[in-house]
Amino acid sequence: MSVTSLTPPALTPDDSEGLSVWPASARPAADGDLTVGGVSLKEAADRFGTPLYVLDEGEVRDRCRAYRTAFPQADVVYAAKAFLCRAMVRWVEEEGLGLDVCSAGELGLAVTAGFPAERIVMHGNAKSPEDLRTAIRLGVGRIVVDSASEIAQLDSIVPHSDRQQVMIRVVPGIAAGGHAKIRTGTDDQKFGLSITDGSAQHAIANVLRRPHLELVGLHCHIGSQITSVKPYVAAVRRMVGLMSQVRDQHGVKLPELNIGGGHGIAYRPGESSLDIGVLAGRVRAELVDGCAHAKLPVPRLTLEPGRALVGPAGVAVYHVLAVKQTAGRIFVAVDGGMSDNPRPALYGVRYSPRLVGRRSTAAPALVTVVGRHCEAGDVLADAVPLPGDVRPGDLLAVPAAGAYHLSMASGYNLVGRPPIVAVRDGAARMLVRRESLEDMSRRDVGL
Ligand code: LLP
Repeated sequence: MSVTSLTPPALTPDDSEGLSVWPASARPAADGDLTVGGVSLKEAADRFGTPLYVLDEGEVRDRCRAYRTAFPQADVVYAAKAFLCRAMVRWVEEEGLGLDVCSAGELGLAVTAGFPAERIVMHGNAKSPEDLRTAIRLGVGRIVVDSASEIAQLDSIVPHSDRQQVMIRVVPGIAAGGHAKIRTGTDDQKFGLSITDGSAQHAIANVLRRPHLELVGLHCHIGSQITSVKPYVAAVRRMVGLMSQVRDQHGVKLPELNIGGGHGIAYRPGESSLDIGVLAGRVRAELVDGCAHAKLPVPRLTLEPGRALVGPAGVAVYHVLAVKQTAGRIFVAVDGGMSDNPRPALYGVRYSPRLVGRRSTAAPALVTVVGRHCEAGDVLADAVPLPGDVRPGDLLAVPAAGAYHLSMASGYNLVGRPPIVAVRDGAARMLVRRESLEDMSRRDVGL
């Protein structure tokens, strides 16, 4: 993988293998199989069952390193909401990144897995008293304040001998993001404090008055699945403008600027992803020029990618359960769906599944791949070519499945959440086991 681009290179220049959105380690193998991290997907499915999530550890680590190389003067903080388990915490720690959490649960998992609390940033538009108390007790590095009421609440729970470092989440007034539900840079949504109506400026003044809070900088996160660098450059401009106002009004030069994450990836061949090399150059140039113009010292930059670090490293593997020909379509139904991947139902996105584990010479047919759940909207892929003889018992693998699948998985229809298996150098090891009926019924204490 190149350092300037996080798009895994196609194995052939024309992507004739169709692997451009797969982990860079993906290789076609004998009998129509595919290996990822040197592990056969068919063997993994046989060993661990399906639905199965496979995570390429090397791809995650390479992506962490590519970020650190592209942003040598910045802190890169992994947004844990994209996918979190103890092994992931360990990899991120070993690669020298920070961690962004947004609940006492994510924070507790990270710290008990050994992640240093001072490298953790806590977010949330509505942090519970428990979230805040846990953050203070465990000593997180930064708390990003998202509302006026949170300021007083936080100030009152910091021990009197102490000061908590905080940032303020600012709404810079920039529309960006792959879907309306994941655009967070404008005033008409629930996150952050607006520059336009003055609530950001008000919160800054409020924090600066608090004896137990230390304002170290400003934060913004304009949205998710963004594939252009332009909105980031615009956000940096607005944020530097606000930092300059803070200096003029309060005589304070804030030392840090966090511009969030949101870096888009390709889910299907031909889709574009955000080029982080270009992002790094343009953001740095805007920051340096803007600060020179405003006569401000250049603040330390933080980025919070989630999806771009883990999304392309994951592959979902399903068995086909049923194939149904209707007047207009061929439906191929798999043994998972919206309970392990709610993204199609939530954002209307579509994936690009591939038959693995069997070689077929049948002519391709355009099919609709659906899940097993009791909703017509449980659709993974539309009008995708699969061999025309696709049948129950076949294996389908879905690339770009590492982010916001398992972290958003539900208990719908009590099918149980799939396991996650790490692959590396030809070896597979389970990271999180399958959720069993026993796990599910243990919580049901009634009768
Ligand atoms: N920082 C903050 C404060 C965030 O809220 C998020 C994501 C990130 C960083 C990381 O964004 P990323 O680089 O992963 O795009 N469930 C949706 C995405 C929701 C993103 C929420 N916040 C999806 O599946 O597309």
